[in-house]
Amino acid sequence: MKVLVTGATGQLGFDVCAELARRGAEHWGVSSREMDLRDDASVRRAVLDYGPDAVIHCAAWTRVDAAEDDPAECWAVNADGTARLAAACREAGAKMLYISTDYVFPGDGERFYEPDDPTRPAGVYGKSKLAGEEAVRSALERYFIVRISWVFGKNGGNFVKTMLRLSESRDLLRVVDDQIGSPTYTRDLAPLLCDMIETEKYGVYHATNEGVCSWAELAREIFALTGRTVTVQGVTTEEYGARAPRPKNSRMSKDCLTRAGFARLPDWHDALERYLKEIEAI
Ligand SMILES: NC(=O)c1ccc[n+]([C@@H]2O[C@H](COP(=O)([O-])OP(=O)(O)OC[C@H]3O[C@@H](n4cnc5c(N)ncnc54)[C@H](OP(=O)(O)O)[C@@H]3O)[C@@H](O)[C@H]2O)c1
Repeated sequence: MKVLVTGATGQLGFDVCAELARRGAEHWGVSSREMDLRDDASVRRAVLDYGPDAVIHCAAWTRVDAAEDDPAECWAVNADGTARLAAACREAGAKMLYISTDYVFPGDGERFYEPDDPTRPAGVYGKSKLAGEEAVRSALERYFIVRISWVFGKNGGNFVKTMLRLSESRDLLRVVDDQIGSPTYTRDLAPLLCDMIETEKYGVYHATNEGVCSWAELAREIFALTGRTVTVQGVTTEEYGARAPRPKNSRMSKDCLTRAGFARLPDWHDALERYLKEIEAI
């Protein structure tokens, strides 16, 4: 199978390419340099010239707060760019796997969201990712939509790296304690995505590491595992005051994976420990 991977310079795309290489699969990982999602001709050329059997679409505008200030640019990449890519996949006869997010949900209550629960994103980023989902559904029959959350991987910035950096200069950190979700380690997710595209089990999935926590709990675990003496002060979303709205409930049910016969990802504590070793923080 020949696979085109977008977002290859990002956290997830990097590890998807590494996993495909490990499996000896023919693949091409692209960044905005080789294929700019904002440009029709660039997207069409990359897909049709390469002629993949499957496209794993990891690229996105991921700066959630900045999206509130530049909604047009975020939309051009996440919504219109995904629509361009889906149209090119249709033309090329390729399956498409689109990476989406917990931010498509309203985030109220405490229940675990199922893939077919109603969506209602609050911010620009979530709306643009949902528009990407809708573009994929309307252009293609052979698609996977995989919603993930709280991503950490070796190749790029993330919450874990930010906590480690801040702990170098501070004894006390204020971290949000009322948003509950599940971290996703890209090295755990990548093999699942590569397994998925080999199948015809199309549909919408949730895939994160198992277990839930708040950002503050995640921060405390990072410092416990790395032996750092930093006090984590839990604060509310309102007290923290980020630019973009974020769901308080990001719990997503992964029963869809079990039902389809896919292996679920390990517990997040285990994933975090392996990640900290990978980036040589322990
Ligand atoms: N990060 C999270 O916590 C999180 C949570 C839920 C869902 N997700 C989703 O997971 C996926 C992977 O996220 P990530 O954290 O791995 O992303 P990331 O590290 O921020 O990387 C983003 C990637 O998108 C590419 N990109 C940006 N603009 C582009 C454009 N105009 N044309 C082509 N490529 C472009 C970047 O390429 P350049 O280097 O060329 O800019 C980069 O490779 C995304 O779909 C994201 O929405 C992420």
